[in-house]
Formats: sequence, structure tokens, C-alpha cells
Amino acid sequence: MSIAFRGLMERFQEPTAMRAWSRKASAQGLRVGFVPTMGQLHEGHLSLVREARRRADRVVVSVYVNPTQFAPDEDFDVYPRDPEGDGEKLRAEGCDVLFEPENLYSEGHDVWVHAETLERPLCGVSRPQFFRGVTTVINKLFHIVEPDLAVFGKKDYQQWRIISRMVEDLNFPIEIVGMPVVREEDGLAMSSRNVRMSPEARARAPEIYRSLCAAQATVARGARATFELLHDCTIQIQATGAEVDYVEIVDAHTLHPVDTIRGPVVLAVAARLDGVRLIDNIILEL
Ligand code: PAJ
Repeated sequence: MSIAFRGLMERFQEPTAMRAWSRKASAQGLRVGFVPTMGQLHEGHLSLVREARRRADRVVVSVYVNPTQFAPDEDFDVYPRDPEGDGEKLRAEGCDVLFEPENLYSEGHDVWVHAETLERPLCGVSRPQFFRGVTTVINKLFHIVEPDLAVFGKKDYQQWRIISRMVEDLNFPIEIVGMPVVREEDGLAMSSRNVRMSPEARARAPEIYRSLCAAQATVARGARATFELLHDCTIQIQATGAEVDYVEIVDAHTLHPVDTIRGPVVLAVAARLDGVRLIDNIILEL
């Protein structure tokens, strides 16, 4: 059957099969949209799939828990995995291809792609290997899937900035689309890791977003100095028993820390609650 007609969702594990499908679609003049993920899909991921469907003729979603973005003491082994559930959700969204490679790294892998400056602050401080793993695997996936556009969530704001920069700096002919954070009803940013929290920790977790909203309200009332905003936000998060990794206000483009808010900035936080690392952010509107 020609792939010009939308059919049942296909599943590929082999990069060569994936690339052949994508080249065939492109040869038929179809725009291919791509959503890379690590699975355990939730509404946040599905919002990206819907956006890809809206903007492209065909949608490819990858599920690959990328080992190189986890440090040896991190949660690679216990990262939630649900291949059956993911397949069902993607089928229901009208995804065309689920790409689930087994392993993307060959013996002796030696070439890495990384962002010199953007990967250093925020999550880069406590996870120095993380973004190198992300940029390298996204390079690989872009070369395999050869999409026309790729959709990322701004929940991982720094990751979205780095991928946007990478595409520009390395001349990928791929449009990068950034989508807003999707939240639970109580405000907690959706994350595959949320299922690993105890019910008690889960009940306290929305306080992280409340602290971001409180900062936004203070800015709306005229505050421009970041010191007090950061202090209040940190105290509010620590009151939940969470261990704060960072609370920072940075330029929305360069990710440099800002003392006084003059233009678009992002208030970004990372905290460990019940052993689960949670990140969230808000773009502070003046
Ligand atoms: P993962 O955490 O599975 O996220 C896949 C995509 O979904 C990312 O673009 C992420 O920003 C987006 N996303 C996750 N939660 C979201 C939410 N609540 N609202 C909106 N978007 C959300 O990020 C990764 O995987 C990996 O680092 C990856 C890019 C796949 C590279 O391995």
C-alpha cells in the first residue's frame, strides 16, 4: 500500500527501516513531523503529537530511554517503561510511526555533540553529562528520521533552547517547534517520573508550581529585582520537604542569570521530592 494513504500505525526498531519509510514519505511530497520521547507517555507528550499532526502530513514518535543522558547514579534502570500503553495512546492520536530502537550506540561510540555554553547552567550544574547525551541522541534521531519539523516541550526549557541552537548552528533543515507546559489539574507539571512519587509527596508536589505563580504575581505588582523572588520561591519549595537543586531567573534566550528583570526571563526550578527529581519553569510576564 502506498504511504500516501494514511494506514495503521507502523512500528520500527531498525534505523534503516525507519529512514526508508521517511524518505519514501518525503519523496511523495509529505511533510514529516517528529516527536522524540522516552516513553511512559502522558498528556504533555500527546500535546506535542497533536501539534505535529496539525503541522505535518505524517507523524513519527520515537520512544527510546537514552542511556547516555543518565549518570551512573541516576534513574536509568527504574525509569518507567510502558511500551503497550504507549502504543495504544499513539494509535489513538493517529500517529503514523512508532520508532522504538533497541540500542542506538555501537561499541566504541566516540563522537559527541554538545552545546558549549547553553548546557552549563541550570540542570547542567548537577547533571554535567546530561545535555551532551540529549544533543547527541537527538542528532542521531534527526539523521535517522530526517523530519521536516520536530516538536519539543518547554517544560524542559533548557533542552528546547539547546536543540533550537543546535539546529541553527549545525544547519539541520528542521523546524523546531516549542510547546507550553501541560499540567495536572492541581498545577503539577506532567512528567513520566510523577508516577514514582509516594501519594504523600505527590500531594505536596503542586507547591512547586504555586511558588512560580506567586513569583509571577509579585512581578505583576511591579517587582523587578530577582533576589527576593528567588528567596521566596526557594523557601516555599523547601517547606514541602523537597531538596532544592536550583531556583534561578535567567534570560529567556541566553539562559544567563538576571539581577533585574527588563525583558523576557524564565524562572526555572529543579527539586528532589521523595527521591524524584522534578523540574518546572514559568516565563515571567512584565
Ligand atoms: P521526555 O522526558 O520523554 O520528553 C519528551 C518530550 O515531551 C520533550 O520535548 C519534553 O519537553 C516534552 N514534555 C514532557 N513533559 C511535558 C509537559 N508536561 N508539557 C509539555 N511537554 C512535555 O525530553 C526527553 O524525553 C528526552 O530528553 C529526549 C528529548 C527524548 C532525548 O532523549
